[in-house]
Amino acid sequence: MSFENILVENKDHLGIITINRPKKLNALNIATINELHEAFKALDADAAIKTIIITGSGEKAFVAGADISEFAHFSVEEGEHLARNGQEQLFDFVQNLGTPVIAAVNGFALGGGLELAMASHFRVASDNAKMGLPEVSLGVIPGYGGTQRLAQLVGKGRAMELVMTAGMISAEEAKNYGLVNHVTSQEELLPLAEKLASKIARNSSVAIRAAIKAINDNFTDGVNGYETEISEFGNCFGTEDFKEGTTAFLEKRKADFPGK
Ligand code: COA
Repeated sequence: MSFENILVENKDHLGIITINRPKKLNALNIATINELHEAFKALDADAAIKTIIITGSGEKAFVAGADISEFAHFSVEEGEHLARNGQEQLFDFVQNLGTPVIAAVNGFALGGGLELAMASHFRVASDNAKMGLPEVSLGVIPGYGGTQRLAQLVGKGRAMELVMTAGMISAEEAKNYGLVNHVTSQEELLPLAEKLASKIARNSSVAIRAAIKAINDNFTDGVNGYETEISEFGNCFGTEDFKEGTTAFLEKRKADFPGK
């Protein structure tokens, strides 16, 4: 696969996607969103890939938001289409991906950048990172799921304040909010994400896929996550991974999961 706005690297069981528009602080234009969709889809379809890391190129930004120059003259209909299409193509797509996605937030994660990090399954950040949803300062609101996911992750009051003030929080504050799991230096950020990815890779990818669905269903309207958990739990008993995992435990050896 070759792309104009992103880099994709396969490293053992890991797929690393780097958004690569550093001169525009990796702002998400429509072309980048489409490329990200294709890259996530291809990595998810590759059984050898156990985890995906998403990060930004350069030392300044993860993603400084949706590309403002692209939508500044949009109509009401075009604005709605932008949000709907973006949510379907990228943000909901990433959230519901069966392959775990870790966002390595290496600098500014603003607007669509924070929304992409929040759509990922969890986040780690470098100590220079700054996060916020500044859309109301442009006369618009977050449109890629930010009003929903920020409130889920940090609580309604904090989400209201961050959105209304269009403020930015530091990586440390984001950790205190529960928005990111770990904070480290910029040099240690990718190694940390890779270490977490290698821990994930030791486990059953089939079970992880089921767990992602069950956890997500807690936040899906009209769906009972407990019911999802019961049926996904049951499904696990029919997998080769379950046979291997339980047999390996009883034989006192490390499991070698076939991923089926
Ligand atoms: N969309 C389009 N271009 C963007 C962008 C965005 N969201 N964020 C940054 N850029 C571009 C700038 O226009 C500039 O391009 P130029 O060199 O051609 O003029 C380049 O990236 C560098 O940004 P600059 O503003 O000069 O860097 P800075 O260090 O002074 O400020 C930020 C960094 C992140 C504070 C500032 O770029 C910013 O506020 N960006 C917009 C954030 C935002 O509102 N995001 C939500 C969008 S919905």
